[in-house]
Amino acid sequence: ALISLRQLLDHAAEHGYGVPAFNINNMEQIHAIMQAADACDSPVILQASAGARKYAGEPFLRRMVEAAVEMWPHIPICMHQDHGGSPAVCQQSIRSGFTSVMMDGSLKEDMKTPSSYEYNVAVTAKVVEFAHAVGVSVEGELGCLGSLESGQAGEEDGSGAEGVLSHDQLLTDPEQAAQFVAATGVDALAIAIGTSHGAYKFTRKPSGDILAIGRVKEIHERIPNTHLVMHGSSSVPQDWLEIIRENGGAIKETYGVPVEEIQQGIRYGVRKVNIDTDVRLVMTGAIRRLMAKKPDEFDPRKFLAEATKAAKALCQERFEQFGTAGQA
Ligand code: G3H
Ligand code: 13P
Ligand code: NA
Ligand code: ZN
Repeated sequence: ALISLRQLLDHAAEHGYGVPAFNINNMEQIHAIMQAADACDSPVILQASAGARKYAGEPFLRRMVEAAVEMWPHIPICMHQDHGGSPAVCQQSIRSGFTSVMMDGSLKEDMKTPSSYEYNVAVTAKVVEFAHAVGVSVEGELGCLGSLESGQAGEEDGSGAEGVLSHDQLLTDPEQAAQFVAATGVDALAIAIGTSHGAYKFTRKPSGDILAIGRVKEIHERIPNTHLVMHGSSSVPQDWLEIIRENGGAIKETYGVPVEEIQQGIRYGVRKVNIDTDVRLVMTGAIRRLMAKKPDEFDPRKFLAEATKAAKALCQERFEQFGTAGQA
């Protein structure tokens, strides 16, 4: 059944677990996430970006999620819109059946330029007003995602600030977070603690405190009823990078967020953990490996089934690591 983010994360908070929010663009990714959730009895968040809507087309995206609800009626599913750039985008998603939307007002409508606090409050409060009127949850964002190592926002993927950010922009201020929540009424808040989007997060293997995990605790203590969200939470598995490289791929040395840091964040109040890059990497690795092994194969289902299997294993691993397994 479809449920709102508020319902899903209230349960997660009550029972002290986190929920991975995997990005979806096509049938195979939805199959992988749902098969994994079914295998370990987890609730799921299926999140779609504006890019996903453009890729699949709104009717396909909507009906693929409807199909997932029909095929796995016992799994609670939240259909969430990732990084909405304006109230109009959020409005469109609500009309298309999403049970949760993210209004990312930390950036201007171009999704590149950091915005003012006042702009962020105004657009987010507006979305909360029309979303809550129809039972849809809202995620806001305060702060700019970016690496504390470099000040870089990471991949220029249309949902991150451009250029080098200051230390202040890279860390959400707990006091401002409390003001923001009071002024907007958001259900969930994405915070900046040193993560960034994409595969190129850290140039060196992270040792210990690469993220400002202490910040999570401080923010959670100020706004205990607002669920905290960690974007840029892919771990960039080194074994899959090797598989990609061994089979013709060219991905530079790079490191992601260690799972232990995410688990620490969950202990301090993180409830939603956004993952897109890891699914992209394992699917690419699985396809490259099979193509190299069977150069005579030309049935796309063979490659896509292999990619689905690899993505399913990754999703199930995260459900287990974040404590989501057994909570459906
Ligand atoms: O935050 C960005 C997500 O990874 C979605 O990426 O805009 O390429 O679909 P996308
Ligand atoms: P990754 O690029 O680390 O997977 O983060 C995805 C994300 O935050 C989507 O909103
Ligand atoms: Na931001
Ligand atoms: Zn994000």
